[in-house]
Amino acid sequence: MSISGKQTLLVLGIAGALVAVIAAIIIVGACAPKSDSLTAFMSLDCTQCHSGSDAFPVKGARAGYAISGHATLGNSFYSNGIGCQVCHTHEGFVASLKNGPPDPKAFVDTPSQPGCFTCHDPHATGDFSLRVNAAIKLENGKSFDAGKGDLCAACHRVRGDATKTVQPIDAAKFSPNFGPHHGPQADMLAGTNAFEYQGKSYSNAAHTAAVKDSCVTCHMTLPEGRYGLTPAIGSHSFNIKGVVHGHETLNTAGCQACHTNIGQSKDEEPVFDKLAEADYDQDGAVEPLQTEVRGLLDMLVNKKGTGLLQKVSPPMYKPDGSWNPVRSGTRSLKEVAAVYNYKYVLEDGSFGVHNATYAIQILYDTIASLKPGFDVSKRPD
Ligand code: HEC
Ligand code: HEC
Ligand code: HEC
Ligand code: HEC
Ligand code: HEC
Ligand code: HEC
Repeated sequence: MSISGKQTLLVLGIAGALVAVIAAIIIVGACAPKSDSLTAFMSLDCTQCHSGSDAFPVKGARAGYAISGHATLGNSFYSNGIGCQVCHTHEGFVASLKNGPPDPKAFVDTPSQPGCFTCHDPHATGDFSLRVNAAIKLENGKSFDAGKGDLCAACHRVRGDATKTVQPIDAAKFSPNFGPHHGPQADMLAGTNAFEYQGKSYSNAAHTAAVKDSCVTCHMTLPEGRYGLTPAIGSHSFNIKGVVHGHETLNTAGCQACHTNIGQSKDEEPVFDKLAEADYDQDGAVEPLQTEVRGLLDMLVNKKGTGLLQKVSPPMYKPDGSWNPVRSGTRSLKEVAAVYNYKYVLEDGSFGVHNATYAIQILYDTIASLKPGFDVSKRPD
């Protein structure tokens, strides 16, 4: 059957119309969300944040942020790709919230440090609400849930599951980068994911449950009153400790609701003066908690070269406290676990304040595993 010229035109006409409709759908589909968000953006009152308006304390937040570790530590270029970008770059974090974990081969072209738009989305929301508002699942399946602190926990957590990470290993392959990864604070607060020893039980100190908004309460609360304000501590510096008028100063503002009289010690490197419940490091004096915890860490590695991890054969750490690379032999489960737990407590950075009970239990069990006869009668329960 032959097709007449008229029929051909008709078919072409219908096909053409279809193409036009599909094209229109594609164009409208592609543009609609954009124009929606653009409309929403254009309807914002820019002057609330970009003017002398005091609707939001933008300039003060920026002053603190500018000296914070988020702005200054500078690892976003180095810690890019193979998943590092999710916590270390603004771009990788925001993309992961939208699309889940990145392709293992992907990296961010021109990364930036975590910044205002990492934690907030002011051009979309018109305010400074937080991008993360739900419990965080830690890598061992446990969860961290503490209001505004969930945002911090999205990045400040252990990168693996200790029961899988801690295994005997060829000494030559045992890297100085081995460990829970620098920022295990959420796991520490939740009291989980250190290497836990068989037959021991573990528990938490009061801060795990008592502190509403957790990280944000202790790290961001500002002192009240005329002399209180400094960008060096609290708020967007995220720092507890900073130099204020030439002096190392601890911010007690976030503690005072619960510890009315807390202050700082007179040491060159000051610690909070709240005493520990016992002489945990067994040096004959009940000292502030952070000093006791430093004492326990010193039993593992210290500057005199007498720490237990400096005395194993061959030593894990050199006499000056730096890593000792070894070319042959095997590191046992016990040795690997001890290094893991040492770093877990050291790199948490709070020297017991985040979760005194769990930190001391872990250190006691680690020390006892390397030193038979270590007096464990003061292990908290
Ligand atoms: C709720 C607060 C808020 C509102 C409202 C707001 N912005 Fe912003 N905007 C910010 C913040 C915060 C920054 C980043 C400032 C910084 O880096 O210190 C920013 C940055 C910018 C920048 C610099 C872009 C960049 O990449 O650094 C421009 C341009 C801008 N805003 C335009 C606007 C315009 C136009 C409007 C109104 C249509 C608007 N903003 C409304 C908070 C706001
Ligand atoms: C789950 C989030 C997360 C991931 C993924 C992550 N990091 Fe980090 N990293 C952090 C946090 C948080 C800190 C800061 C911790 C602190 O100072 O308490 C940090 C700190 C660091 C530091 C500074 C260490 C120091 O001692 O100053 C380096 C270097 C680093 N990370 C490299 C990497 C690399 C490389 C990767 C990928 C292989 C990576 N990170 C993946 C969260 C992460
Ligand atoms: C690491 C995450 C993080 C970064 C980066 C960050 N913020 Fe915030 N911001 C917070 C948290 C958490 C709060 C809530 C503090 C509270 O409730 O005490 C907050 C609160 C604020 C507020 C007060 C909001 C209100 O309603 O009173 C402003 C303003 C603000 N941030 C601006 C900024 C600006 C500007 C930047 C960049 C210069 C920035 N933030 C970077 C986490 C962050
Ligand atoms: C997007 C991931 C991310 C979020 C969210 C985040 N951080 Fe961080 N934080 C980091 C990284 C990464 C570093 C280290 C930066 C570097 O090495 O370049 C860091 C550094 C810090 C430091 C400085 C540590 C040091 O060694 O000097 C503090 C304190 C800190 N963060 C506290 C917080 C608090 C409190 C919150 C929640 C309000 C928070 N962070 C939210 C990723 C994050
Ligand atoms: C009960 C109060 C409290 C809570 C809750 C808390 N912190 Fe801390 N944090 C501290 C104290 C105190 C230090 C030690 C500060 C010092 O001595 O420099 C510290 C240290 C740190 C450090 C190391 C800072 C540095 O300069 O090396 C980071 C990072 C940190 N905390 C992040 C967090 C995160 C993330 C959370 C929530 C998951 C959190 N903190 C919850 C009190 C708290
Ligand atoms: C929401 C209440 C709350 C806040 C905020 C709070 N704490 Fe606590 N803290 C407690 C409670 C409850 C205990 C257990 C009872 C006690 O020892 O006073 C405790 C115990 C402690 C201990 C002793 C831990 C031990 O087991 O030996 C220290 C040290 C401590 N807090 C320091 C701090 C510091 C430093 C801050 C601020 C950066 C702070 N706390 C913020 C409620 C809080």
